[in-house]
Amino acid sequence: MEDRKRQVIVRADPQAVTEEAAQRVLAIAQQAVAARGQFTFALSGGSTPKALFQHLAQAPYLDTIPWAHTHIFFGDERTVPPNHPDSNYRLAYETLLKHVPLAGKNVHRMAGEANDLPAAAEAYAAQIRQVFGLSEGAWPRFDLILLGMGDDGHTASLFPGTQALREQRALVVVNDVPQLKTRRISLTFPVLNHAANVLFLVTGQAKAARLAEVLSGGDYPSAQVQPVDGELVWLVDKAAREKMARGG
Ligand code: 6PG
Repeated sequence: MEDRKRQVIVRADPQAVTEEAAQRVLAIAQQAVAARGQFTFALSGGSTPKALFQHLAQAPYLDTIPWAHTHIFFGDERTVPPNHPDSNYRLAYETLLKHVPLAGKNVHRMAGEANDLPAAAEAYAAQIRQVFGLSEGAWPRFDLILLGMGDDGHTASLFPGTQALREQRALVVVNDVPQLKTRRISLTFPVLNHAANVLFLVTGQAKAARLAEVLSGGDYPSAQVQPVDGELVWLVDKAAREKMARGG
C-alpha cells in the first residue's frame, strides 16, 4: 500500500519522465505564486535533470511558468567554480537559467568555489532565510525540491556514511565525501523534509536495483527523504523500475 504522501509514477522512457516532470513543475509554480506570490524551486544536480531544464526553457513552459516570481536555489553544489564542467550551477545556467526571464537576484547560487566553505554554507543559509523571511531555527518550506538518486543511494550531496546525514540543525552544510575524495555543499535532510513538494527523477536500468532497495525502505540517504507535511513523488522510467517488474 503506497503511503498517502508518497507516489511512485512510472513512465515509458526518459522523455515521458521529462514531460511529466515539466507539467508538475508548472502546476506547483502556478499554485505557489497564486497562493504566496512566489515560487521557491531548488534544483538537483547531476545529469538526469538536464533534459528537464532544456524542456522548461522552451514553449509552453518558457511562457507559462511565472519566472518573474520564481526563486531558484540548488540542492547541492560541487566545490568548483561556477564555470567548471562539474558545476551544478553551470549545467542549470547553460540549459535553463540563461534562457528564461529570471531576475538575476532570484538565482541563488551556492559558492562552491569559496576558500571558506563553511562561511559559504552559512551565507547560503542566510539567503534562504532572507527569501523565506525566516528567523533562526525555523525551517524553509520550499515549494518544490527536485532531487536525483545516485547509484549508491545518495541524494543531493548526502552520501552514505557521511557526516551530513546526521545534521538536524543547520540548513546547509559542507560535507566531506571521502568516497569521492571531495567536499560538497548540500541542503540538509530537515530542509528536504520540510518541503511542500519533493520530486525525485530517476531513469535508466543502472539504477533499478538501488531504486528497488530505496523504495522498499533500504538504509540509503534517498530513503530518508520523507517530507513531514509535503508530497513526495518518485518519477521514474520503466528501465529504472525493471528490477521491480522482475519481482525485485
Ligand atoms: C549531484 C546531485 C546528485 C545527483 C545524483 C544523480 O550534485 O551530483 O545533486 O545528488 O542528483 O548523483 O545524478 P545523475 O542524475 O547524474 O545520475
